[in-house]
Amino acid sequence: MEFLDAVFSRRTTNGPLRPDPVSPEHQQLLIRAAAAAPSQFNSQPWRFVLIEDPGTIAEVARISGESMTQVMSEGTFFHRYRRYFRFSQKEMDQTRSGMLFDRLPALLRPFTGQVFTDSGQKLMNRLRVPQKLGEDNRKLVAGSPLLVGVMLERQEYRPEQLSGFYSVFSMGAAMENLWLTTTQLGMGIQFVSFPMEVPENWQRIVEMLRVPDDLELMAVYRLGYLPERQHRPTIDWSSRERKLPSQFVFRETCERPQTGWDEDSRPGV
Ligand SMILES: Cc1cc2nc3c(=O)[nH]c(=O)nc-3n(C[C@H](O)[C@H](O)[C@H](O)COP(=O)(O)O)c2cc1C
Repeated sequence: MEFLDAVFSRRTTNGPLRPDPVSPEHQQLLIRAAAAAPSQFNSQPWRFVLIEDPGTIAEVARISGESMTQVMSEGTFFHRYRRYFRFSQKEMDQTRSGMLFDRLPALLRPFTGQVFTDSGQKLMNRLRVPQKLGEDNRKLVAGSPLLVGVMLERQEYRPEQLSGFYSVFSMGAAMENLWLTTTQLGMGIQFVSFPMEVPENWQRIVEMLRVPDDLELMAVYRLGYLPERQHRPTIDWSSRERKLPSQFVFRETCERPQTGWDEDSRPGV
């Protein structure tokens, strides 16, 4: 695969993955690609834990589904992230960022505009939407043959210091390398982020993975080979939408937006 093809076709995978194990060669390649990333002073602050044990995956999945149900029914999720929600293509076209929630469960569609109101929340809870979404999430995670946890050395990850920023930056580069490599291998990858929204649930995962005190568990991903056909799920965490260059690129000073690039700016073009 050409390098730029991989860059432009990289995706977040929302849907199910094939249950087949990820081959040891591919697991090794993913980690080699991650480790090839740049890091501050070549510190390589990242650590990875590869998880294939079905019992551990099932437990992470349970915690993930439960966390999703919890933050959705308490309203924390919508409150925290409402600025990223778009409910129509028109809204999406205006912002060119965020995520399009145009496939809400059928029962909720007439109430789209009220999702962020108290009455909308009550209605969702009454219809058990958080439970349904949580169960969908649990199944997705449980059906993944491989989880990858990425950790940072606490000595480097000091959020109040510059090294905190550098270590997160380096980890981002490593994860992007790994993510791009999934594209070449016909694999999918998705953040398992809901447990992070509920600190005590994240702690349960930290304990289950026996993360030592000198490491901080930063993120968990689910991975596997992609099935032939993929359907767009209720909540689509992947978006092809991107801002126009004139919205985020400047020339010489930040007072002068880049002009002339917008016409040819679709991802992958
Ligand atoms: C820091 C970060 C956090 C993310 N969190 C989640 C997440 O919690 N769940 C998820 O499915 N995708 C998550 N994503 C993926 C984004 O939703 C996705 O990159 C974006 O919608 C663009 O879609 P694409 O990756 O398919 O191009 C995250 C990505 C990043 C870089």
